[in-house]
Amino acid sequence: MLPTQASGAGAFAQFDLNRVPSPCFVVDEVKLEENLKVLQLIRSKTDTKILLALKAFSMWAVGPLISKYLDGCCASGLWEARLARKYFAKKDEGKIVSTFSPAYHPHDIEEITDLSDHIIFNSPSQREKWGGDNLSISQGLRINPLNPEGLVGKYDPCRPGSRLGWPIDQVTESMIKDFDGLHLHTLCEQDFPPLDRTWSKVSSVLGKYSDQFSWINLGGGHHLTRTDYQVDELVEFLIQLRNETGAQILLEPGEAVALDAGILVGEVLDIMDTGVNHALLDLSATCHAPDVIEAPYRPSLLGDKEKGKYCYRLGGVSCLAGDVFGDYQLNEPLRIGQRIAFLDQAHYSMVKTNTFNGVPLPSIALWNSENDNLRIVKRFSFDDFEERLS
Ligand SMILES: Cc1ncc(COP(=O)(O)O)c(C=O)c1O
Repeated sequence: MLPTQASGAGAFAQFDLNRVPSPCFVVDEVKLEENLKVLQLIRSKTDTKILLALKAFSMWAVGPLISKYLDGCCASGLWEARLARKYFAKKDEGKIVSTFSPAYHPHDIEEITDLSDHIIFNSPSQREKWGGDNLSISQGLRINPLNPEGLVGKYDPCRPGSRLGWPIDQVTESMIKDFDGLHLHTLCEQDFPPLDRTWSKVSSVLGKYSDQFSWINLGGGHHLTRTDYQVDELVEFLIQLRNETGAQILLEPGEAVALDAGILVGEVLDIMDTGVNHALLDLSATCHAPDVIEAPYRPSLLGDKEKGKYCYRLGGVSCLAGDVFGDYQLNEPLRIGQRIAFLDQAHYSMVKTNTFNGVPLPSIALWNSENDNLRIVKRFSFDDFEERLS
């Protein structure tokens, strides 16, 4: 079980959960902007370009706010590249779209190259197939530095036999000549030392070529907005890397952009004691926060105590036996009809929702914790469920 990285309720401790329909994601634009300011500071001190990884957070209602602070987006394929250009990374504002896909589909490649500034290939053979000298955009190679830093093997792109990135020990001088960019993504919710170790490994093998790249993209997984992240050390590192290589340095965090900026509100539908005290919610871990089951991890609950008087197993509304958020302790008993909220759900939950079992999708609301304005930006209906099926 992975530990949750949520650092507390923050302003959500003051939010009245009954103000939104249930279920609902609520994003605090003030917290989001706070995170963006941390990233902007890193950009301005180091001349690094910072791109939002849309896979983590794609809430396009806040596209204009995000593009005020960041340089563009990292996309994982055609649809994210389209979303990026439409809402987050306008071409006429000089924003960047950098697309990486482990392999490209023949149907998509032309539009991807139209939309993107950088296209990153997972292997020399993908470049041979889709890239080449006729392509007008910049072409990069994703490498696997073979320096595993991940806590969990299945999430580590450096694990043995990984399909992500060309193994650094198989990179040759003639290969390098075909690319003007170098890309690596190996971290997950990590702080500065793993990045430092990873780059040491890369430079020990590829250092002799590093002045051949016009850009170096250090991927995502940097927990830059966590309060204990070593921002000063990162800044020093980024300045040195730029000076040493002469390359434009890019970072593409996802989670760090929306860290602690959103909650998932639900309602207690029933309580039953079968020897285990279950509270059944109108939420579903498998439909609304699949990482709870996939990672797995236990999300923090608003008001949860380490040692409370009342203990509940919070379970989802789907038929999946394992659709459980976890066991929680509270000082007050839960009531049927009561609202609850899981913390730190803006990233990797909203983008992963599904309608398995006909479970309704959560609405999406934008809240401003300073002036208390609240806007429901999206409601879903039966039509959304029906539209996805045939
Ligand atoms: C290539 C790439 N870039 C960026 C990211 C964003 O990572 P994070 O949201 O952990 O910062 C990911 C996440 O998997 C990724 O695969």
